[in-house]
Amino acid sequence: MSQKIFFTNNVGKILEQLHDKLAPSKTMILTDNNVDEQYVTPILSPVLVGGPLEDIDIMSIKPGEEHKNIDEVKNVWKFFEEYGMTRSSLLINIGGGVITDMGGFAASCFKRGIRFINVPTTILGAVDAAVGGKTGVDFNGFKNEIGVFNEAEAVIISSWVFESLPHQERLSGFAEMMKHAMLSSAEDFDEILKINVIDNDFYEGVWLPLLEKSVGVKRRIVKADPTEKGLRKALNLGHTAGHAFESFALKGGNPIPHGYAVAWGLVVAAVLSNVHRGLPSSILYRLASFVKEKYGVFHITCDDYPELLEFMHHDKKNLTADAVRFTLLSDLGSPEIDCSLSDEEISVGLDVFRDLFGI
Ligand code: GLY
Repeated sequence: MSQKIFFTNNVGKILEQLHDKLAPSKTMILTDNNVDEQYVTPILSPVLVGGPLEDIDIMSIKPGEEHKNIDEVKNVWKFFEEYGMTRSSLLINIGGGVITDMGGFAASCFKRGIRFINVPTTILGAVDAAVGGKTGVDFNGFKNEIGVFNEAEAVIISSWVFESLPHQERLSGFAEMMKHAMLSSAEDFDEILKINVIDNDFYEGVWLPLLEKSVGVKRRIVKADPTEKGLRKALNLGHTAGHAFESFALKGGNPIPHGYAVAWGLVVAAVLSNVHRGLPSSILYRLASFVKEKYGVFHITCDDYPELLEFMHHDKKNLTADAVRFTLLSDLGSPEIDCSLSDEEISVGLDVFRDLFGI
């Protein structure tokens, strides 16, 4: 994997250096209106206005998942053409997962592929979406239905930008960091449970090494299996139940943030890991009480099980129609992929999940 990842609180300097090295024929920034207003224009203006990257044009789109579609990509391609982008041009995606997924996809297809750099501005983007080469857009009601695996030339991760994130957004991204810690080791799990992501000082020196460690877990897995034939499915820990919770909440008209669904899904995965793979109970209890304290309770009853199971059976990462496959842990740092469980076994797991949350 050649992707270079920078952990720095001086994004402008790294962008300048990369720009010099890559020597693109033209460079464009893709961002959204919120990020542009809060971050791109004020923070990068010293390098953009009257500076070395002065010629760069900025395309700013409306924020939100509803704009992550092929029509918006067509607008980006039109902009590329009008701006005279060639195969040796460069796109810099500055934003959350919508921007890095969609910009990466637009760049990967334009003239059969131009280079792109990701500058994530959310925790979720930094530890997950911007890293590892998954690009794409939603299509026909399905998330990330159209896309390609193609890694960014470089990813530039800074932490101070998270200071302006709403609490909910911080916690949402933090769930993926919990997942990485569980996939990594007991030490990383202990460390992550000590973090107070709400009152954190993102300017402080501790935060960048923490992000580096979390991204390192994903990088190691993606390096071994870039196109998700096997081991990369480990990154799905917590997502089988998590996606079902997310879809269930959306259908019921009370959408929940992705990371909250993942946090509750991690508890379900830990319950099932405890019962079926021998994950120590102490780890399950510590995780459940941490998630309950930070994310609250996701209210389900046993009447909701059939619908939740239906969503799990239709998860696109589930290759068999008859059994639901989970990533489970035999211990912290020891993931097991493709663990098939019956509806009965999952229902018992959901009972335990409800007990742990007192519902
Ligand atoms: N978000 C999981 C992965 O990149 O595989």
